[in-house]
Amino acid sequence: MKIKDTIANEFNEFSNNYTHDMIACVPHYLVLLSSMTQGLSPNFNPKTILDLGCGNGNVTSLLTETFPDSKYTLLDASPEMIALCKQRFKEYQMVYATAYFNDFQFSVETYDLITAGFSLHHCDLAEKKQLFKKIYTALKPGGVFAYTDLMIDKNTAEHSAFLKRWEAFVLTNFPDGEKWEWLVEHYTEFDKPDDLKKQLQWLRDVGFENIIPTVKDDYWVHIRAIKT
Ligand SMILES: C[S@@+](CC[C@H](N)C(=O)[O-])C[C@H]1O[C@@H](n2cnc3c(N)ncnc32)[C@H](O)[C@@H]1O
Repeated sequence: MKIKDTIANEFNEFSNNYTHDMIACVPHYLVLLSSMTQGLSPNFNPKTILDLGCGNGNVTSLLTETFPDSKYTLLDASPEMIALCKQRFKEYQMVYATAYFNDFQFSVETYDLITAGFSLHHCDLAEKKQLFKKIYTALKPGGVFAYTDLMIDKNTAEHSAFLKRWEAFVLTNFPDGEKWEWLVEHYTEFDKPDDLKKQLQWLRDVGFENIIPTVKDDYWVHIRAIKT
C-alpha cells in the first residue's frame, strides 16, 4: 500500500482487510477493544454513545452486544469506513457523521459514553487537548470517556526500543517485511502519539477527576475517565 495524502484517504485504503491487519499489526488489539465494556459499573446503562474514529465499527460492534438499545453516533473522516459501518449496522438506527474531529459540532451534555479506539493518536498534542475539552463538555454528568491507544512520545529514548519490539511483532505475522515497511511510513506520516502521563494530566486539566488506566501493556493503554 502506498501512503495517501490525507488521513481520510489513508483509511479509505486501509479499510480493505482492516480488522485482519489491525490484529496482526497492533499488539493486544482485541484485548484493548474489549476493555471498552469490561469493568464498567453494572448500573451503567448509556442511552447515548458517540464513537470517535469508528473505523469499520469494531468498537461499536462490541458495545452493541452490551448496550443493544443505546442510541449511537459514529464519526469518522473516512467515507469508506463509514460505508462499512452502514453495511455492518444496517439493522440499527445509527447516526453517522463523515467528518474530522475538528469539524464536528459536539453538543453540550449529550452523551453518556464517548469512545475512541486507536483514533486519537492521529491528533497532535494541541488537537488532543482541545478534543478532551470538547469530550468533557459533550458528556452528561456521570458520563464516561473510554479510549484506547498507543501512548508514548516519539522523541524519547524508550521509543526506539519500543519500535524494535513492535517490528518483531509485525514480522511474526508478515515475515516478508512489506507490511512493516508500510507501517513505518504510515506511522511517520500520520501517527502522533503522546505519553500516558501527559494525557492523564490533560484529562485532569479539562475536569475529569476519576481517571483509570484499566489496561496497560507496553505502551498500549486503555483509559476510562468519568465526568463526576
Ligand atoms: C486506527 S483506526 C481505528 C478504528 C476503530 N476505532 C478501531 O478501534 O479499530 C483510526 C480511525 O480514525 C479515523 N480518524 C483519524 N483521525 C481522524 C480525525 N482527525 N477525524 C476523524 N476521524 C479520524 C480514521 O479515518 C480511522 O478510521
